[in-house]
Amino acid sequence: MAWGGHHDQVSAFVLPVNLVDSVRSDPSPQRDTWLDTLPGVVAEFADRWSLEVGLPYQPGGRCAWVAPARDRAGRDLALKVAWQHDEALDEADGLRAWAGNGTVILHNSATVASTSILLLERCHPGTPLGGALPEPEQDEIVAGLLRRLWQAPTGGHPFRPLQIMCDAWVAQFRQRLADAPGALDSGLARAGIEMFRTLPATADRQVLLCTDLHAGNILAAQREVWLAIDPKPYLGDPTYDPLQHMLNCERRLLTDPVGLAHRMADLLDLDSDRLVSWLFARCVQESVDQPALRNVAIRLAPH
Ligand SMILES: Nc1ncnc2c1ncn2[C@@H]1O[C@H](COP(=O)(O)OP(=O)(O)O)[C@@H](O)[C@H]1O
Ligand SMILES: [Mg+2]
Repeated sequence: MAWGGHHDQVSAFVLPVNLVDSVRSDPSPQRDTWLDTLPGVVAEFADRWSLEVGLPYQPGGRCAWVAPARDRAGRDLALKVAWQHDEALDEADGLRAWAGNGTVILHNSATVASTSILLLERCHPGTPLGGALPEPEQDEIVAGLLRRLWQAPTGGHPFRPLQIMCDAWVAQFRQRLADAPGALDSGLARAGIEMFRTLPATADRQVLLCTDLHAGNILAAQREVWLAIDPKPYLGDPTYDPLQHMLNCERRLLTDPVGLAHRMADLLDLDSDRLVSWLFARCVQESVDQPALRNVAIRLAPH
């Protein structure tokens, strides 16, 4: 591993390629400005928390600069400096509520303007589940982690209800449809929007959700075989939570979406009709940008 004092980092600051790619594809100048602040923030927190910081993980994620770090006590940690987009607002509080039970442990956190800085337990070797095991085995690991994440106590922090995220998506979806009229059958669009309204409101229990658990956000570790990273905590219907993993399982999603929903519902003791409805809503929403999902939405549509 390459270690450098933070002064070396400032003179030749290395960026994760996925982060560069995502900032480039964002037309607003806001995130370019944010990228310029990164070397200063990393140096400031390396100093404040007495860390030696290595080179960032590659190819990395799309919203954060993450690198291995070591503190004065010699602990192996990871420093995450993230663009604080809306869904990630409660990442630190969620990790505190989970307290390492299925997720990485949070050792320290801070917020500076629209940047969140997290000092995390390091996953070693850190191999993502996605490249390590075939999908049917990933299903079981995702389900095992979700069952545990749903047990977290939620009293200490006012996590936002899932309805808030669904409302934001509906607003975004309407805007995208207005920009691309005819991109989607209007009946299908209305039915999807209706699901985003009714499903959060009719859940029979409310739990702390990860909302972004997928095989890229589950890393091989030592304290446990697999640990979750990068949660976007909300409070709501557990049936929502397997969706991000399912949306990533492209071949099964395109060939047998109902079978995939039944499989995950079985593993998680969830109502499979309800999971089909959630999957329908997400496929409608995503199909504006991913036309292949339109047929999936049609197959899942309520009769
Ligand atoms: N605690 C950790 N231990 C080891 N590697 C990590 C850790 N957290 C993140 N990473 C690495 O950094 C990458 C990006 O982190 P992530 O939290 O998923 O950010 P993003 O929000 O950009 O997706 C991960 O894919 C992984 O390679
Ligand atoms: Mg991630």
